[in-house]
Amino acid sequence: MTEQTSRKILVTSALPYANGSIHLGHLLEYIQTDIWVRFQKSRGNQCTYVCADDAHGTAIMLRAEKEGISPEEQIARVQAEHETDFADFQIAFDNFYSTHSDENREFSEAIYKACKEKGHINVRNITQLYDPKKELFLADRYVKGECPKCGAADQYGDNCESCGATYTPAELKNPFSTISGATPVEKESEHYFFKLPDFEAFLKEWTRSGTLQDEVANKLAEWLDAGLQEWDISRDAPYFGFEIPDAPGKYFYVWLDAPIGYMASFKNLCDRRDDLNFDDYWKADSDAEVYHFIGKDIINFHALFWPAMLSAAEYRTPTAVNAHGFVTVNGAKMSKSRGTFIKARTFLNHLNPTYLRYYFAAKLGASVDDFDLNLEDFVQRVNTDLVNKLINIASRTANFVKKSGGKLSDTCVEQDMVQDFINRGDVIAELYEQREFGKAMKEIMTLADRANEYIQAKQPWAMNKEEGREQEVLEICSVAINLFRQLMTYLAPVLPEIADKTKAFLNLESLDWNARSNILLGHEINKFKPMLGRAEMEKVEAILEETKTELAKENGETPAKAETKAADKKTAKKEKPAKKKGQKGKELREDGNEVIAPEIQFDDFAKVDLRVAKIVNAQYVEGADKLLQLTLDIGNGDVRNVFSGIRSAYAPQDLIGTLTVMVANLAPRKMKFGISEGMVMAAGPGGKDIWLLEPDEGAQPGMRIL
Ligand code: MSP
Ligand code: ZN
Repeated sequence: MTEQTSRKILVTSALPYANGSIHLGHLLEYIQTDIWVRFQKSRGNQCTYVCADDAHGTAIMLRAEKEGISPEEQIARVQAEHETDFADFQIAFDNFYSTHSDENREFSEAIYKACKEKGHINVRNITQLYDPKKELFLADRYVKGECPKCGAADQYGDNCESCGATYTPAELKNPFSTISGATPVEKESEHYFFKLPDFEAFLKEWTRSGTLQDEVANKLAEWLDAGLQEWDISRDAPYFGFEIPDAPGKYFYVWLDAPIGYMASFKNLCDRRDDLNFDDYWKADSDAEVYHFIGKDIINFHALFWPAMLSAAEYRTPTAVNAHGFVTVNGAKMSKSRGTFIKARTFLNHLNPTYLRYYFAAKLGASVDDFDLNLEDFVQRVNTDLVNKLINIASRTANFVKKSGGKLSDTCVEQDMVQDFINRGDVIAELYEQREFGKAMKEIMTLADRANEYIQAKQPWAMNKEEGREQEVLEICSVAINLFRQLMTYLAPVLPEIADKTKAFLNLESLDWNARSNILLGHEINKFKPMLGRAEMEKVEAILEETKTELAKENGETPAKAETKAADKKTAKKEKPAKKKGQKGKELREDGNEVIAPEIQFDDFAKVDLRVAKIVNAQYVEGADKLLQLTLDIGNGDVRNVFSGIRSAYAPQDLIGTLTVMVANLAPRKMKFGISEGMVMAAGPGGKDIWLLEPDEGAQPGMRIL
């Protein structure tokens, strides 16, 4: 027997903010991490998974104020909601804590003091915008005004969504505080800085030492070469957070104490567990492994500030920081108006979480590429793989075993095949270890195909009708059940609920990796009960509908009102004659070819929802010499991806920031390069002579063309 040495592994997911609900984007991360953790546990490693709510900051303070409760009440409410959502998605934290805790305060103060003693803290005055009415310094996102370059109204304090210009909030014209509406004034105040440049040499080394994905390390190398800046770690009162020692009225910026929350959550767990010792994991020479799973938007906090702070305070640094990309739905950013900004709870109201866990696993790799949740592919994939392939193996063979007495046969008639399935576990384990879940699922489904081919070739149901072949039927079905057990061993980290049902069905105490090496012979099994139904597209549609209703509520519309509004829209379309005529004769297709259109009735034309759209981005499409890929904003957060055959006439940079007209209710079309969600209107014979329709100045994105 080979002796397996058990690794000590601490794993974290980023701490969700305590001011909003968990949504599908978050879930990608928590499900990815949970699968990896369950895999490590299955392998016999001592793996601990901690997380917490990120409870500090201005946003949480303001949210509590709006709800008329204390910040403490606010974060307790959200934490309860988060914990139920996570539990229902079978995310099994060993501890879920809060950054607003005694442990976190102690660690934050201690780490800060260590940095200060070593001379890594600087104090100096800076000037910022201040809300004189609310008596509060304003972070960039709380200031809006007119773009200093193009004059577009309602722009945030750092960049213009209309022309793309970047600037400081102080440069905005007619600025206002989004909190009180007051005109901000400039005000000076003392701030505390962490001297990140002190750590340049250390970080150049650390980021290249195998701790980061190559693509991430390359990105960071750019920043490191450009030179590091001191990091502003203080915020003035009023602020919900920890006061800085010896600095009354100054608070730690939320991002200082947030990663320290990983340690605090672990410490809180260690205090309840005899088998876990905090120092074993965190002292500088620790031989334990520490992994942070995060999204690509928060890499700088985890791969620059955090290792620098840890090394200053003489703690160990993470073994690796594993970043993932962002979730898109049907090829586009999650959007409230399209109903794709889906909350965890909304999903649970209609569909089994097992589906989402599997789909994420099936398409996840170890890179930071974005993850597209294509809803049709999702339904098809989970039904094909889980219902048709996997569970089918057990459901069409279990009853024959039950009929012949409920015991698997005493001998295995396909030793080699079962052994093959067992051996394949080593390859699959390596893929899990590398976070190549998609490749692991592919391996597993290839095995499932083999199992189904075997059953199909043997046809035990036909054999069962012939007399005297009961033993043969039992032997074949016993092979199938053994294969199913191997597959479920490999899938258990992804499908914990199905794994539990399998354990009950097969009378097994464990489906752990190391328990798989024996073949089940003469083993008693239980009656097979259905494990998972089919996913249905109607349920997905119900999720989108419910999400849209939530948006209507957020906008202060009652559901009834929202419906009337929709109805109004329809009548408006029918009754108000459109100024533009239905076209007869030549028109231009998206690919630039002319088509002859038959005459249509007014009602037909009225079905077309034409909108003013702002081209917020335009780019070439690799491998398509006629197309441009356009990102169109039609207001209310509705952003569309459209492929258009206008490359011969326009360069992307000429289009960005301009207005045009789009058909907004064209059914999405799957094209070779992605999904096109509408079309833009253009005129002309083709080639260089194509003109996009351009509304006059004053038109706003989202306006309907009448
Ligand atoms: N509170 C900080 C993290 C502090 S960690 C010391 C934060 N919170 S968050 O709620 O905004 O995000 C939590 C995690 O979810 C982050 O890793 C973030 O990247 C991830 N995601 C949030 N939206 C996402 C998508 N749409 N897609 C994929 N992951 C996304 O950041
Ligand atoms: Zn502008």
